[in-house]
Amino acid sequence: MTDAQEPKVSEAQESAQESAQESTGGATAPSRRSVLGWGGAGLALGAAAAGGAVAALGGGSDIAPAASAGAAVPFHGEHQAGIASAVQDRLHFAAFDVKTKDREELVKLLKDWTAAARLMTAGLPVGDVFEGVPEAPPTDTGEALGLKPSRLTLTFGVGPGLFAKDRFGLEGKRPEALVDLEAFPGDNLDQARSGGDLCVQACADDPQVAVHAIRQLARIGFGKVAVRWSQLGFGKTSSTTPDEQTPRNMMGFKDGTRNISGTDTAALDKHVWVGAGDGSDWMTGGSYLVARRIRMHIETWDRTSLREQEDIFGRDKGEGAPVGKSKERDEPFLKAMKPDSHVRLAHPDSNDGATILRRGYSFTDGTDGLGRLDAGLFFLAYQRDVRKGFVAIQRRLSKNDALNEYIQHVGSAVFAVPPGVRDKDDWWGRALFA
Ligand code: HEM
Repeated sequence: MTDAQEPKVSEAQESAQESAQESTGGATAPSRRSVLGWGGAGLALGAAAAGGAVAALGGGSDIAPAASAGAAVPFHGEHQAGIASAVQDRLHFAAFDVKTKDREELVKLLKDWTAAARLMTAGLPVGDVFEGVPEAPPTDTGEALGLKPSRLTLTFGVGPGLFAKDRFGLEGKRPEALVDLEAFPGDNLDQARSGGDLCVQACADDPQVAVHAIRQLARIGFGKVAVRWSQLGFGKTSSTTPDEQTPRNMMGFKDGTRNISGTDTAALDKHVWVGAGDGSDWMTGGSYLVARRIRMHIETWDRTSLREQEDIFGRDKGEGAPVGKSKERDEPFLKAMKPDSHVRLAHPDSNDGATILRRGYSFTDGTDGLGRLDAGLFFLAYQRDVRKGFVAIQRRLSKNDALNEYIQHVGSAVFAVPPGVRDKDDWWGRALFA
């Protein structure tokens, strides 16, 4: 990589982003083009405008709703954004293999990634696009110019492979809660779509903003990391904002009705955030992510009767009400549901209280060569301990769920997602490498 390709995170840009996160006034989201166009001395103006975008999330009478304003989501905080924060419409998820063997080089990359993420989440490019040295490639590829921050969040995680012996000296730091997932009945995992040493989950309301972000991180990491697999997603299948309309999955059912709300701090502390006494201090305030690419046999599902579809979930298709109840939010009465219905089996009461925060997306990746859609649910679940969350539920579902006839798990990965980046001196994974 040439110097020209390194992210140029000038102090001026950092301060622009800092201001973006701290300001509380205004409500207008900047476009990337306008911020860039101001350039140089004009960055102070850019900072003020970017601040307005972030402020849209902060409350106040003249504040536009975050989504419609294309606002920025604060990058700094106790927890990483992209977990409990409101779910955006689009996803680009990438898992990376670490190629470098040099710990210092990896640390430098994580610092560079953090600096780039700080800029991009504020709606700024990672460096020059068309005003740099003509003989060198531009630092930022440019396709997000003119686009709003679009609530971009970048959430970083570390896979089990990073803790391997004789790699980066991290073998003593692997959290017990980050288990390798067992082979569940029915799994048909493609190794080329599974695992990874690092991951970045990019969520945004504009797919081009999410794709741009992953692309810049991959470029910055060139020679040190390589994308192992990635997944595009659309149509969030679970929200963290229960007062909004519940989204529907590719099977046409409301999905995420009984998800953890992003404002339910008690439930988040109990089930999602790693606590101070949980074992790995560097993870306090973080969470564990399970990603599963779940293919749906769409054509078979589409030939299934409405009654059977509803029996499979234990909820009706129109309102989303549990069996025997009339409203979506009515408390499910599990015994009224078929013993193999998805909701009955996945409910905390069937799994010793196991509760996860779901944040998945639908995907359609063309066809499979046999005329069938390669479509399904890219399932993303956050939890305080993988053993007590996903594993506890999936053990039951994989054995008994009536839904299994219509789905197949084809990709799988687990990641430790560290706590939030606190300020401009902090970086992704700092406590891990301390
Ligand atoms: C393609 C696969 C899947 C589909 C289409 C699907 C769909 C649904 C739907 C429609 C609901 C009811 C509405 C709601 O409360 O969200 C639901 C509930 C739920 N699902 Fe899934 N799901 C899938 C896979 C999974 C997996 C792999 C897990 C975890 C291992 C899981 C865990 C849950 C949980 C915990 C609930 C809430 C149960 C409750 O508390 O009532 N789901 N799912």
